[in-house]
Amino acid sequence: MPDTPRPTGTHDGPSVLVTGAAGNLGREVVDRLLAQGARVRRLVHRPTTGPRSAVESVVGDLTDPAVFRAALQGVDAVLLIWPLLDTDPAHHVVAELIAAAPRVVYVSSTAIDDGAARQSDPIVQVHVDMEVLLREAGLRPVVLRSDTMASNARGWGAQLRVGDLIAGPDMARTAVVDERDVADAAVTVLLAPDRTQLDPKTYLLTGPEVLDRGDQVARLGAALRRPLSFRPLPVDLARSRMLADGRPERLVEALLAASVRRPESHLITDHVERLTGTPAGTFARWAVDHAGGFRRESSDS
Ligand SMILES: NC(=O)c1ccc[n+]([C@@H]2O[C@H](COP(=O)([O-])OP(=O)(O)OC[C@H]3O[C@@H](n4cnc5c(N)ncnc54)[C@H](OP(=O)(O)O)[C@@H]3O)[C@@H](O)[C@H]2O)c1
Repeated sequence: MPDTPRPTGTHDGPSVLVTGAAGNLGREVVDRLLAQGARVRRLVHRPTTGPRSAVESVVGDLTDPAVFRAALQGVDAVLLIWPLLDTDPAHHVVAELIAAAPRVVYVSSTAIDDGAARQSDPIVQVHVDMEVLLREAGLRPVVLRSDTMASNARGWGAQLRVGDLIAGPDMARTAVVDERDVADAAVTVLLAPDRTQLDPKTYLLTGPEVLDRGDQVARLGAALRRPLSFRPLPVDLARSRMLADGRPERLVEALLAASVRRPESHLITDHVERLTGTPAGTFARWAVDHAGGFRRESSDS
């Protein structure tokens, strides 16, 4: 069984476990929790380097009961990021959560259609199945349904380092949300002093404007002062490129299903502002703040 380190933090505040803590959202949540004086433990898939590696961490697979049990010891709240494409391994996670009884905050998806018997694609189906599993187990989760996160654009980095064209699977228009806003919202809920005010609830976290891929690329181009363009790839070509990049076949098929079947959404909410006190930021702001990560290779030297 893995050693359980003491959660890192400066104050005697609540102790919070973040799963998926090395990912785009998890990193932002960890930074904010530390800044607020919470004691933080990360569950990370593999050892990490960099500033956050000093934070107490349990390294391992979320689906390994011993890993999750060790990560849960002594925590008051859990941000449950479930990056998997099935819920079978979640049954042991639920059992451990029942035993440890922390407050549970689950990161889900605004793409869920509450009226549908089956969801549009496997990624959304996993989220609805996880929500049901957590609720039916009596865990009374706070659910943060997130729209498509702006940080997905980091996946364009390799193409933008060598040219101005981004080619990839298309996605229907949606109100892309800055992952830093989702992180702020998550921290509000995780550290809420009065859990009866928040628990259990579902929040719908969106950005302020509905964008397609071309819109996002145009905003990124404005931030980089480059004439960027987006070319949607036919499914077969997108599949072969993603597989050639080394992505697992099951993930590729799930992403392609989302590309083809997920409907466009015009949902825009004020739930980010309700939780954080600040309106959701634009994708244009995200692009300006992250422009440095998309420089051309030639201009980096
Ligand atoms: N991105 C979006 O647009 C979006 C929208 C709505 C909801 N969500 C939800 O929000 C979550 C966080 O999104 P994100 O963009 O931050 O994802 P991300 O950057 O892909 O981060 C996911 C993290 O989970 C880790 N992980 C994967 N499998 C694991 C396992 N078996 N055990 C332990 N750790 C594992 C990954 O580590 P490795 O890479 O080392 O495997 C990665 O660090 C997603 O998983 C999804 O459920 C995302």
